[in-house]
Amino acid sequence: MSLTPHADLDLHLEVGETRPARALERALRDAIVTGRVTAGCRLPTTRSLAADLGVARTTVSEVYAQLAAEGWLESRVGAGTWVAETAPSRPDRAEAQAAEPDGRPRPYWGGYPDASLFPLGEWAAAARRAADAATLAELGYSEDLRGSLRLRAELASYLRRTRGAQVSPERIVIGQGFSGLLALTCRAMAGAGARRLAVEEYGHPAHREIAAAAGLELVPVPVDGEGADVSRLGPGIDGVLLTPAHQFPTGVPLSPARRRAVIAWAQQTGGLVIEDDYDGEFRYERRAVGALQAMAPDQVMYIGTASKALGPAVGLAWAAVPKTRLAGLIAQRSVLNEPRDTLNQLTLAEFIAAHSYDRQVRRMRAEYRRRREYLAARLAARVPRARLAGVPAGIQAFVILPAGTDPDQVVAAGLRRGLAFKALHEYAASAGSGNPPAIVAGFGASPATRAQSDIHLVVAAIEESIADRCRLSEGEN
Ligand SMILES: Cc1ncc(COP(=O)(O)O)c(C=O)c1O
Repeated sequence: MSLTPHADLDLHLEVGETRPARALERALRDAIVTGRVTAGCRLPTTRSLAADLGVARTTVSEVYAQLAAEGWLESRVGAGTWVAETAPSRPDRAEAQAAEPDGRPRPYWGGYPDASLFPLGEWAAAARRAADAATLAELGYSEDLRGSLRLRAELASYLRRTRGAQVSPERIVIGQGFSGLLALTCRAMAGAGARRLAVEEYGHPAHREIAAAAGLELVPVPVDGEGADVSRLGPGIDGVLLTPAHQFPTGVPLSPARRRAVIAWAQQTGGLVIEDDYDGEFRYERRAVGALQAMAPDQVMYIGTASKALGPAVGLAWAAVPKTRLAGLIAQRSVLNEPRDTLNQLTLAEFIAAHSYDRQVRRMRAEYRRRREYLAARLAARVPRARLAGVPAGIQAFVILPAGTDPDQVVAAGLRRGLAFKALHEYAASAGSGNPPAIVAGFGASPATRAQSDIHLVVAAIEESIADRCRLSEGEN
């Protein structure tokens, strides 16, 4: 099939022989994103578009239905199909260029959630109920260093229900964010004689610093299309820190074979698996894979956090702890004398009990899913040689740039536009030159009103860098 402009719509479709539905979907998204068709604009009937393009009518119907399900289009029997009011559209240019009021670029980093969508009203109501219900014992010095029993009970049933975890309130320890629990875990490991912790080749630099500060030697493990290559773990390794649901930041889940392999390694060697489930709730195409912890609760320290669905301001995270590790963890807490924070914990317990946490997860999942799809569509339309890698999940996207692109140049182009994001190599555990050209776009970080325009900025930064490179190589010839 050849290029076929549609008369009414001026659609410019390059529909390939093999995947006409894909191409049509992409072309329609592009037409909407770039403003060639705007909200309310009626689309041709399936029959006439199919005839124009020389594709089956069912192909067009399916694409319309898919885009309607995603909120891009609306249709009514008898009235036809049109572009939805809520469909993404070209943002105002001035807004798109805006940086922080003081001119500093805004963070657009992986793992940053949108603070503008924090459910302040529901949180305040939960805080009120929690304060009303708090007992004198809860308001005093607590004897139980694991944290509020009410919160641990709510979390145990939440984690069983949503992540398939095998956990009871006795085995849960509440902490100050994922990083706080990681620090306790690493210190407890070192205190028990551990020396070497394997970490994914790419990961959060702060987490490596925490482990190193606890006295553990870090051993990077390569990451590929199946997640961390756990076959590299040997008997000389005491533990491994993994992001199994959605590798941070490359976005691949740990494959079933590797999940089995890492559990087998832990069972054979007595090593500890630390499961960082930072964004396990945010999977978009299908249900998330369950927690690795469910396969081996005595080998896996599962850690989840409220920092993504709610926000870092809550500052709470939870660990489901293997039986043999519980005393060591609590001993560290006692030494460090971390703040008790009981009222905050009781608020979160109320918030979960009232199903506000579930509602918030659903709201944010829909929001972040839209953002990711919008970024994918925008990239496909403007820089088809760049691509999103990893599964549709999470609050950041891993963008592989066309071969030869300098990711630092893309980062610099982003900074000039007021957005701070990072190149893949900034997440690498060891300095080296083998990193693919890629950036991590933290679409979750934008305030909702700027989500679209920020995506335009990132894509523009990529476009500019590629154009520069073309000019450069033309000049060289
Ligand atoms: C990979 C990863 N794990 C965990 C977290 C959560 O950290 P915390 O609970 O300390 O906010 C983040 C936050 O950015 C992250 O990127």
